[in-house]
Amino acid sequence: MAYIEIVGEKQLNGEVNIQGSKNAVLPVLAATVLVNGITKLNHCPRILDVYNMIKILEAIGCTVYWEKASLVVNTARLNTSTVPEVYVKMMRSSIILMGALLGRTHSVTITYPGGCTIGARPIDFHLGAFQDMNVSVEEEDGLIKCTTAGVKGNDIFLKFPSVGATENIILASVLADGKTSILNAAREPEILELCKFLNAAGAKIFGAGSERIEIEGVDYLHSIEYTASSDRIVAGTYLAAVAGTGGEAVLTGIGSGCLQTLIKVLREMGCSILSGEDYIIIASSGRPKPIPFIRTMPYPGFPTDMQSQIMSVLMMATGTSKIVEEIFEGRYQNVKEQIKFGADIRIEGREAVITGVPSLTGCEVYASELRGGAALIIAGLMAKGKTTLYNPYFIERGYEDICRDLKQLGADIRRVS
Ligand code: EPZ
Repeated sequence: MAYIEIVGEKQLNGEVNIQGSKNAVLPVLAATVLVNGITKLNHCPRILDVYNMIKILEAIGCTVYWEKASLVVNTARLNTSTVPEVYVKMMRSSIILMGALLGRTHSVTITYPGGCTIGARPIDFHLGAFQDMNVSVEEEDGLIKCTTAGVKGNDIFLKFPSVGATENIILASVLADGKTSILNAAREPEILELCKFLNAAGAKIFGAGSERIEIEGVDYLHSIEYTASSDRIVAGTYLAAVAGTGGEAVLTGIGSGCLQTLIKVLREMGCSILSGEDYIIIASSGRPKPIPFIRTMPYPGFPTDMQSQIMSVLMMATGTSKIVEEIFEGRYQNVKEQIKFGADIRIEGREAVITGVPSLTGCEVYASELRGGAALIIAGLMAKGKTTLYNPYFIERGYEDICRDLKQLGADIRRVS
């Protein structure tokens, strides 16, 4: 059984380059299904979720291969619109293929993606939007079958600015007949990235990054080479690690533009942060100051994907902090592992009250999902003595090589197979 071993209480100092963005490349890889030719995707991270997406693309008839750090996808021989169940169970975000397959083949059959540790994660917004776009949706024995004579543009109002639903509607609209307007659309940087990719391939999308996105259907998308941006949550995770251990680090390949709310919190904790076009410098010393109130919100609010990591840092704050998790009802599952370090955390519904302690003690912990696992690594870096973290593959779904990166910053950390 593989595990990660950490000896804590070492300051982090040095420089690390940030990998490509998981949540940007997954929808872009789905979008390659709409490209009538070849896509070359540069700066694609080598993470488990990308490997899973490659398997899905190959299973539906695409040719996919690596060219150094670039992934080349040729969808010319796409021959089915059924997404194999085994992959949907492993990665629920494979539902992002639905919109693209509907746009390309006018049908998609996919297993109902179950919830996961962080929440039920229904897809009613996705399916409701497809039905409003001339798609018939049938659900039987856990399978979802969607068919259409042709996707028709429409006005779609989202009750909540869902990232995945916004992405799926965009993908279904690009080759649709007529115009689609998405009202109350998600504004995450990954939406902007998907639209930048699609427009570069010949799509006509306006308003990406705002709450109203308009897509005019076109006939086809041409071959394209595209460079993915760096992963803002990986960068945020490493910034949080330095905030927790103390030290000074330079993150390269990413600016602070899409991390403003996180950086504001880190500065309130007492960190000094400088940034430029493609670097962020953080310096931290002593115990962090507490943060009276953090509420996770859709972008540009505080990102839910950074909630667990910031909680780990606040476990040693010089006072009491409160976090309210508004996005995923199951995102406190990881707290029982964080408490093993000697943290004082009380959960009341969506609220977590963290009373900082002067020191944490290394222990044996189990990752059960991606960002919670990363948060346990941060706690291990801060704690006295040794921490052993089991189930590292949850972390490897989104982090190319967290041990490599943190070791480069001086951490005493290793993965044992
Ligand atoms: C994306 O998930 C990200 N995943 C998540 O990152 C991220 O936490 C989330 O957006 C919010 O930013 C990818 O991009 C692959 P949502 P997604 O639809 O699209 C509810 C990570 O760690 N909802 O914006 O699934 C839902 O239950 C992952 O990298 C419905 O009710 O998020 C949740 O409460 C974790 N019905 C809320 O909306 C729907 O049809 C936000 O979900 C869809 C969503």
